[in-house]
Parts: sequence; C-alpha cells; structure tokens
Amino acid sequence: MSIHFKRRRLMAPDITSRKGGEPIVALTSYHAHTAAIADNHCDFLLVGDSLGMVMHGYESTVPVPLELMIMHGKAVVRGSKRALIIIDMPFGTYEESPAIAFRNAARVMKETDCGGVKLEGGRRMAETVRYLVDRGIPVMAHIGLTPQSVNVLGGFKTQGRTVDQWHAIEEDARLVAEAGAFAIVLEAMTAPLAERITKAVPIPTIGIGASPGCDGQILVMEDMLGLSPSVPKFVKKFGAIGAAIDRAIGAYADEVRARTFPAPEHTYSVKADNGTAAPAPQRATKKPKTSST
Ligand code: KIV
Repeated sequence: MSIHFKRRRLMAPDITSRKGGEPIVALTSYHAHTAAIADNHCDFLLVGDSLGMVMHGYESTVPVPLELMIMHGKAVVRGSKRALIIIDMPFGTYEESPAIAFRNAARVMKETDCGGVKLEGGRRMAETVRYLVDRGIPVMAHIGLTPQSVNVLGGFKTQGRTVDQWHAIEEDARLVAEAGAFAIVLEAMTAPLAERITKAVPIPTIGIGASPGCDGQILVMEDMLGLSPSVPKFVKKFGAIGAAIDRAIGAYADEVRARTFPAPEHTYSVKADNGTAAPAPQRATKKPKTSST
C-alpha cells in the first residue's frame, strides 16, 4: 500500500498506549473555532451527544439524531489538526444489533473522517464493541452513569454509591476492555470504584466525575469554561465565559443604541472619482441611551 501523506493526528492506539502514564487530557467539542483552541491542549476531543443539551436546548441526549452528530463532527475535524476526534453514537443508532451499529458507525467515520466512535453500555454492548473493532472501527466505551439511559435510571444519578453495586460496574469495564475498546469513559461514580476499575483494566480510563486516579479526564467544554447555566457537582469552572459574553454583548448593545458603534474605523469610505477618499461620515453625537433606561 502506498502512503500519500504523513498523518499527524493521534490515533486510538496512541491513547491506549498512555495507560498508566502521563494523564490523558480531553474535552468535548462541538464546533470548529473552539476545537482549534482545544486542539492545542488536548489529546482527544469528543463530539459528545451532550451537544443536544448544550447547543440545542434538549433536556436529555435522547432526541439527538445521527445527522446532528455528523454535522458537528465534521466541524470539529475541520477545526483541529492533532487531537484524536471521537464522535458519540446517539441513542437508537447502535443498540439494536451489531450490524446496525456498524452501518451507522461506518457512516460517521466516512462522512466526518473522525478517528473513532463512543457508545454507552458495558456488558450489554460488549458484543457490539467487538463487532465494530473487528471491522476497523475504534470504539471508546462509556460506563457508570450512561446519560442515554436517563429514563431508565430515573435521572442523572451517581453510580456505585454502595459497594454491592460495584461488581456489576467492574464487570462492565472488564467486558468492554476484553471486547477491544481502546479506552473507557467512567462517568459519575464513586472514587474508590473508579480507582479499582482503573487498576483492573489494561486500557485507559477517562474520568468525568470519577477520580483523579483515572488515566485521564474529560469535561464538557462549556461547563468548565463557565458558560453552562447549571453544572454537575464534579465540574470545576476554569473560566467565566458566560459573564464575559454578557459583559461584551451589553457593551455592544449600549454602543449600538448610542450610535458610537460602528465608529469610522469600522466603516468603508467611498473613493472619490479622482482616486482620493471621499470625506468620512460624521460620528453621531446623540446622548447614549442604555438598555436599562
Ligand atoms: O456526551 C458527552 O459529552 C459525553 C461526556 C460526558 C463524556 O459523553
């Protein structure tokens, strides 16, 4: 086989090889500009189906269609250069059978050029994980709190609160690892359970509300930037972007109302017939009227 280009992006085996080493850094990403920024810092970017809630205002991830994942996935691939891009398989596109999962996951891979997919579930998805991996699709598993099952779980609830729940969750991790998943997201589970799983499986665990003992961490970008109006307990806000946007839009609104924006430097002048610029328009001197007046 001839090789036409040198691939600079990280690939699924690069993530797997980080097991037990330097922590893996990941964030969700849904659009090109923020993907370009996160790409400078992250090992992988997840186009999570949380985009349904964060970008599109749904109450859960259940309504998210495959087409939306593909559209945002393309944007994130275009915006980034180095990070591995993983795209979530949304609810209803992979649970029915391994063959249906393959058809939909192959579509995601072909249409977006991403490096792998993520799907929710442990034991119940192990056969599907193997089917996809055997056919060339890298799979990241996701266990613990699986948000697509919110209607069965009765809410976004922390998993493994009592020790008698641990065995089933540890088995979920072991079975998807054995089936060939290249990494596992552990969401919203008690820290000792996440640490036990991390020690037990040969692939990296990526924690979100799990434990610093995981092999890596992921957060929803808008949550950690301080843009989401409400966030789970496990989120640390590393920024205050929501407040910064509010200030900037407020300043813009004030200047538009005062006619101080656009200023001469933001407007185009007309060239006079002899090639010299026509006089610049005069700046309005109307008294500023603020939104609160
Ligand atoms: O959809 C998502 O954002 C996710 C992360 C919470 C891991 O699956």
